[in-house]
Amino acid sequence: PPVAILGVPMDLGQDRRGVDMGPSAIRYARLQPVLEELGYRVSDLGNVEVPIPEVASGGGGKAWRLRAVREVCLQVARRAAGAAREGMLPVFLGGDHSVSIGTVAGVRTAGRTGVLWVDAHADFNTPETSPSGNIHGMPLAALTGRGHPDLVGVGGEGASVRPEDVVLVGLRSVDREEKDLLREAGVRVYTMKDIDAYGVAAVVRRALDHLSPLPRLHLSLDLDVVDPEVAPGVGTPVRGGLTYREAHLLMELVSEAGGVTSLDVVEVNPILDSRNRTAELAVELVASLMGRQILELPRRPL
Ligand code: ARG
Ligand code: MN
Ligand code: MN
Ligand code: MN
Repeated sequence: PPVAILGVPMDLGQDRRGVDMGPSAIRYARLQPVLEELGYRVSDLGNVEVPIPEVASGGGGKAWRLRAVREVCLQVARRAAGAAREGMLPVFLGGDHSVSIGTVAGVRTAGRTGVLWVDAHADFNTPETSPSGNIHGMPLAALTGRGHPDLVGVGGEGASVRPEDVVLVGLRSVDREEKDLLREAGVRVYTMKDIDAYGVAAVVRRALDHLSPLPRLHLSLDLDVVDPEVAPGVGTPVRGGLTYREAHLLMELVSEAGGVTSLDVVEVNPILDSRNRTAELAVELVASLMGRQILELPRRPL
């Protein structure tokens, strides 16, 4: 399918400045030409407009800048729904992970959507359980119908995804009450411990056995899933992440199993990075997900 790139320079879901420059950094790392070299037709739809924190409206009490995050996510959902219904494969560039409240709410209007959430964190807090009040720690809870009604409601009536259609991979930092929510929700979770014990290949196989019967697959890639030694340009780094090759293998195996129908690339913060290497890694990982192989030459056109 043709690829549509949409940037969401959102930095309102957390309090490290710079993640709003993620879309620029990823474009600078040549996302579009790399995809074109793989044979895709690519259109860049530009960015969704996001207010800067200095003027963003607040509200929400224990969820910072709630009103502004909701407004942005509503726009994102509208654009995402349009791209998905036109049969495009949207690639959303964050921005912090709160953008996914909009991306997933949008794409799922084109069909029941399995979500593969690849992240050091579960992002399963509600305003009540969040120790930080940062909305980028809440998107997956909101998408499955938990948390502030203004966030849950971005997808209209009811939840955007069913908990049984969600698989998390790469977790190693989960807040205390967030653990209870995760367990109660019944989502599938593969932590770093599972990856260490069974390997990425076995974990991906199980995740996809579960999700591939669904008509759509959305991969939400938070770059902090990768070890901070390899991907330093993120706002909430946690030691013990995926190695460079583990991250690529995950993408290669998802690709081999049929790929995705939509993708988020989030939490790249060029201000905290060193010479844009995290954005460059992000583009490499997208290439592996979209079919780049070590041996095969690209076939074109796809
Ligand atoms: N669990 C922490 C919180 O709720 C960190 C969340 C980090 N999320 C992310 N998308 N990087 O604040
Ligand atoms: Mn995240
Ligand atoms: Mn994270
Ligand atoms: Mn390891």
